[in-house]
Amino acid sequence: MTTDVNVKMDALPGLDPNALPLQVKNLQVEFRTRNGIAKAVNGVSFDVAPGETRAILGESGCGKSVTAQAIMGILDTPPGFVTGGEILYRGVDLLKLPEEQRRKVRANKIAMIFQDALSALNPVFTVGFQLSELYRKHRGMSRKDAKARAVELLDLVKIPAAKQRVNDFPHQFSGGMRQRVMIAMALALDPEVLIADEPTTALDVTVQAQIMALLAELQQERNMGLVLITHDMGVVADVADRISVMYAGRVIEEAGVNEIYASPAHPYTKGLLESIPRLDLKGQELSAIKGLPPVLTNIPPGCSFNPRCRYAQDVCRKDPSPPLYTVSSDRTAACHFWKEVKGDE
Ligand SMILES: Nc1ncnc2c1ncn2[C@@H]1O[C@H](COP(=O)(O)OP(=O)(O)O)[C@@H](O)[C@H]1O
Ligand SMILES: [Mg+2]
Repeated sequence: MTTDVNVKMDALPGLDPNALPLQVKNLQVEFRTRNGIAKAVNGVSFDVAPGETRAILGESGCGKSVTAQAIMGILDTPPGFVTGGEILYRGVDLLKLPEEQRRKVRANKIAMIFQDALSALNPVFTVGFQLSELYRKHRGMSRKDAKARAVELLDLVKIPAAKQRVNDFPHQFSGGMRQRVMIAMALALDPEVLIADEPTTALDVTVQAQIMALLAELQQERNMGLVLITHDMGVVADVADRISVMYAGRVIEEAGVNEIYASPAHPYTKGLLESIPRLDLKGQELSAIKGLPPVLTNIPPGCSFNPRCRYAQDVCRKDPSPPLYTVSSDRTAACHFWKEVKGDE
């Protein structure tokens, strides 16, 4: 038995069972590179409740994965450093915990799955061994019991013939089945929050839908919080409750999924929505957002989206960057002209 056995989470100082399982407040992460300091995450806040799906949406390079890595404590340091903010698990700031306690929270309460299952799984061990190890290490189970739990988990994620497949190596599974194995590993210790970073991007469309359906089902069953990171607005429509839209390291709009789809209040969100292919507009040109996101070592003054924005005025090109305006009681947007954007449909 190892020291991780029988983790007593209630031993965490300041733990509040009524607080949300994950709250991120004003998170700041920078990369200190040869080309200067890149503010990869610049004041990101969001939370997730039990059973809720929070989508984090934005183009490649906007800081989604770095946010997830900071939460999980797996940031590449150096060059990456958390320079400010709080990451709260039920009221306890993980950034202030000693590394050992932090590791326990990470192993037991907040789990993560990645885009690329093949590199997340160990190629030299069977999936059964990798799953069993979690139970042996963290729950002190016998080899036999742990193996039985591993088979149950493969069943849970609907891998056919789990009893046989538990003895296979990761490379013997298809992409979709491997993703199921990774979900099984993440769920093994009953986390309260699952962070899924582009979990279906590497898969074909049919398999994508199956994996998303599985995630949604498991989340419901377990009343788990899900943070779904994606660059694909189409993916979030069906599954998300709330959306945080990120641009150049900031959350630029935050709202319930229905409000965002009905009337986006930030020009960037609006552009993302307009670039989803729609069957009813077949034949019409897609209006993708023109231009590219800024290089993070060289973010333009004012609103970082201003060079690509059709609403931009002088005020948008000057510091400070727009604050998160209150659009309605549970909705914010970082645009000086959110009223115009929202109204102009
Ligand atoms: N290892 C690294 N070294 C330097 N900069 C990095 C590193 N990882 C990420 N970054 C910076 O952080 C930004 C955000 O990256 P990331 O969170 O991976 O984007 P995404 O939204 O596509 O997941 C990148 O644009 C890059 O500037
Ligand atoms: Mg990423």
